[in-house]
Parts: sequence; C-alpha cells; structure tokens
Amino acid sequence: MHAQPGVEVRPDAPEEPADRRDQRLLPASTFRSRRSALSDAQRQTWERLWPELGLSVGVPAAEGAEPALDTTAWFGRQAPLVLEIGCGSGTSTLAMAQDEPDIDVIAVEIYKRGLAQLLCAIDRAGVGNIRLIRGNAVDVLQRLIAPETLSGVRVFFPDPWPKARHHKRRFLQPGTIGLIADRLLPGGVLHVATDHPGYAEHIGEVGDAEPRLRRVEPGDGLPVSVVRPTTKYETKAHEAGSAVTEFIWLRHE
Ligand SMILES: C[S@@+](CC[C@H](N)C(=O)[O-])C[C@H]1O[C@@H](n2cnc3c(N)ncnc32)[C@H](O)[C@@H]1O
Repeated sequence: MHAQPGVEVRPDAPEEPADRRDQRLLPASTFRSRRSALSDAQRQTWERLWPELGLSVGVPAAEGAEPALDTTAWFGRQAPLVLEIGCGSGTSTLAMAQDEPDIDVIAVEIYKRGLAQLLCAIDRAGVGNIRLIRGNAVDVLQRLIAPETLSGVRVFFPDPWPKARHHKRRFLQPGTIGLIADRLLPGGVLHVATDHPGYAEHIGEVGDAEPRLRRVEPGDGLPVSVVRPTTKYETKAHEAGSAVTEFIWLRHE
C-alpha cells in the first residue's frame, strides 16, 4: 500500500497503553474501553501484513482537501467496493468476502485486536479481497471515500448505547446516514443489522427519512450480497432473547 498524500499512514502506533492509543482515534464521548493487547502470533501477523493490507487514519497531516483513497492501487484491480463499518473481529467481513471474490471489501474498526484477529483469519484463509482501516468511520467516509463510489456499506450490530443520555453517541444518526448515502453509488446498498429494539426503531426512522435512500427487500436485484453469517455476537443476542432487525436501503439512481 502506498501512502496517500495528506493522510497519516502508520504501520503501527508505538506501544503505549492500549486504551490511550484507541482514544486518540475516536471522540472520547463515543469510545468504549476494550482490552486490545495482541497475542505474540497476532503481533507477528500484524507486523507482517498491516503495511500491505492496513491503513491507520489519525489526525489530518495538513489542512485542506485530501485526495480520496486510491482503491484500485490498493487492491490491485478495479472492482465494486463495500465498506464495512465496525467490523469487530471480522467474522462477517471474512465470510462475505469469501462468498463474493469479485467484490472488494474495506473493514473499518477502531479496535486493534479485532483487526488483528481479522488479519490472522485473512492470512489463514488466503483471502485477497479485504483491506483494513483503523480509525473512526466518520473520518474514513469524509476523508478517504469519494462521493458515489461505494456499491455497499455494511453496519452490523453497531453499539446501541442503550441509556437515553448516551443516544447521541450512536453511530447511525441523520448526519452519518446522509454521509453514507452520499458515498454510495446510485443503486448501492446500505445494509444494517441490530439486536436492540430501541436502536432499530431509531435506525428505521433515520434511514427512511434520508431522501436518497429507499427501503428494499433482500433479493431485489442488489449489487452486493446481503447474506450474513451468524456471528458470536448475534448468537449471544439470540440466547438473550433479542430479535435481530435487518434493514436494506438502496441509493436512488
Ligand atoms: C457491537 S460491535 C459489533 C462488531 C461486529 N460488527 C459484529 O457484528 O460482531 C460494534 C463495533 O463497532 C466499532 N465502532 C464503534 N464506533 C466506531 C466508529 N466510529 N468507527 C469505527 N468503528 C466503530 C466498535 O469498536 C465495535 O467493535
């Protein structure tokens, strides 16, 4: 991966307390503390593969407009592009990329250990159509992704922030849905799943209110797959009795 001018590309941050490292990348109000120390094997894989497959987005290196990410150079081909926001440890990312080898997938996550788990899984499976970005998805969408370039955006089980006073921290809000709609190609798909009923209601209202999006059913001739594997997170949600709500919106032509 070649450095994009104006974008800080760091092979890895120097070792420092994990929480402090993570907090620099997200507004403190939306950050959830997580243990992110890597195992020796994960660290070795990270050191070997991150320079090629990963990109860290920190503060802008300079003021002014930055060029969007050159995904053709990064993937070494031109293919429909999907952005998965908050991939966690990447179970869905890997399975869906394997199912669709002709689609390129960029997984965005703030949590280093999740990305390291995904990197190890990519290495084991020999999958070539996934790249990873460590950073806040809002920054990634605003700074690295040009308007009307994505065939799909996936947001699976975004943090629900269940307390009323924390609802403003939820990722899916009118502003972020508008930003996603702007980055989708006409005919592109926004696919969201949540196990939280209150957040589901909010997501449905906000997505339906976005004028560039139209709700559709799976199988309506979509440009990318909407078949998700059941993740560990989802299994726990089912065990706790939570129903999963799924949304698919299509960007207007
Ligand atoms: C509840 S987890 C779900 C993980 C995964 N999608 C799954 O289905 O198992 C939500 C994830 O979103 C990530 N996240 C939250 N806000 C984010 C943001 N602004 N940018 C990137 N990732 C974010 C969190 O670090 C967390 O790993």
